[in-house]
Amino acid sequence: MFSAFLPTKIVFGEGSIEKLSSLAKNLGTKALLVTGKKSTKKTGLLDRVIDLLKRVGIESIVYDKIQPNPINDDVDEAAQIAIRERVEFVVGLGGGSAIDSAKAIAITAAMGGKFWEYVPVGGGKKPTKALPVIAIPTTHGTGTEADPFAVITNPRTNEKVGIGYDVIFPKFSIVDPALMTTLPKDQTAYTSMDAFYHSLEAFLNIDANVYSDILAIDSMKRIVANLQTAFDHPDNMYARTNLAWASTEAGITETLTGVIANHAIEHGLSGFNPQLAHGLGLCITGPYLLEYMFDECYERLSTLAREIFNIQEFDVRKSARLFIEKLYEFQENFKLNPKLSTLGFKEEDLEKIAHVAFNTMKGVVTKSPKKLGEEDLLQVIKRAF
Ligand SMILES: [Fe+2]
Repeated sequence: MFSAFLPTKIVFGEGSIEKLSSLAKNLGTKALLVTGKKSTKKTGLLDRVIDLLKRVGIESIVYDKIQPNPINDDVDEAAQIAIRERVEFVVGLGGGSAIDSAKAIAITAAMGGKFWEYVPVGGGKKPTKALPVIAIPTTHGTGTEADPFAVITNPRTNEKVGIGYDVIFPKFSIVDPALMTTLPKDQTAYTSMDAFYHSLEAFLNIDANVYSDILAIDSMKRIVANLQTAFDHPDNMYARTNLAWASTEAGITETLTGVIANHAIEHGLSGFNPQLAHGLGLCITGPYLLEYMFDECYERLSTLAREIFNIQEFDVRKSARLFIEKLYEFQENFKLNPKLSTLGFKEEDLEKIAHVAFNTMKGVVTKSPKKLGEEDLLQVIKRAF
C-alpha cells in the first residue's frame, strides 16, 4: 500500500524563470526573498528575480544571510522580519539551504514563536499553516523543490534535523536548468550525488513502491549518464537539464518513499562539522553502508547493477557487489571518496556523531532494509574513517 500527495506546481525547463511574474501575481504584494550571501548576487539572479516580481507590483524584502547547512537563528531572524514587514509569501532562491530556510521561515512566520518549537527533537509542535513558498533552485540536488522537507541545524546542540510537513510543500517551483550553469565543479558533483542518494536510499527503503522505483531508477541513470559532461562543460544545457530533472525526480521519490540510514549518518557528520558538504558526506559513507546491509539488500542492488551500470552478471550476489564497486569508482571520478580522518574528524568524536545521527533521524534509520541501531551506525562511520 502507498499513497501519493504531490501538491506542488512544478514549472520545468530552460527559461522557465520568466514564468515567475505570472505565478506570483496572485500571492500578494510583498515577498520575502531568502538567499545566500554571494552567488545569486554575483550571477545577477537576485536582481532578475526582484525585477520579475516588481513587474507585477510585488515588493521584495531580501534576507541574504543564509549559510550552507543553514541554522535556526537565521530562520528566526528572517521570520521576525517577515512578520514585521507583513510579507505574504516567501521565495527561496539558491541551493537547498536557501529553499529549506524559506520553508522553515514560512512556518515560523505563520505560526509564531521560534522555529525549533516545530522540530520533533525540539518543541515537537506540529505546524498547521505556513506562508506560501516559491522555490527557485540553482543547484540540482536537494529535491526540496518537490518535497515537504527542510533541513536546519541547531549550532548549539550540533543537531541537524530534517522536518517534513505537508504545509511546506512549495506552492510553485521553478526549475530552470539555465540557472544552474554557474554551479562550480565541486557543487555540481556534490549536489548531483545528493540526488543520487535520495533515489538510491528510496529504492532500498522498506516502503519502496512501484511509483518511487521508476523515478528512482530513472534519476540515477540520468546522473550517471550526465554528471561527467556537466562537470567538464558547465554550460552544457543537455547535461544540466538532465541533472535538474534527476534532482526533481529524486525529490518526488523521496516524498513518495523516503531516505534511509545514509542520510541519518550524514546529518550526524555535517551537524558536527558544518564544513562538510552534504553530498560529499553521503558519498563517503554510502558504499560502506551498502556493504554493511549487503545480506538484506543484495537483490535490490543487483537490479540496480543492471539498470544503472548495465552490468550483465547473472549471479545475484556478484552483481550486487559489482554495483557497489562501480558506484565507488564513479564517485572516484569526482574525488568523492576521501576518508573522514582527512576532513578534520577525530576518532573520539565518532561515538557522539553516531548517537546524534540515530536520535535525530531515527525515523529514517528504521526504514533501512537491515535493522540498525546506534552501534551499527558507529560501525559504518568507523569504516569510513
Ligand atoms: Fe539529501
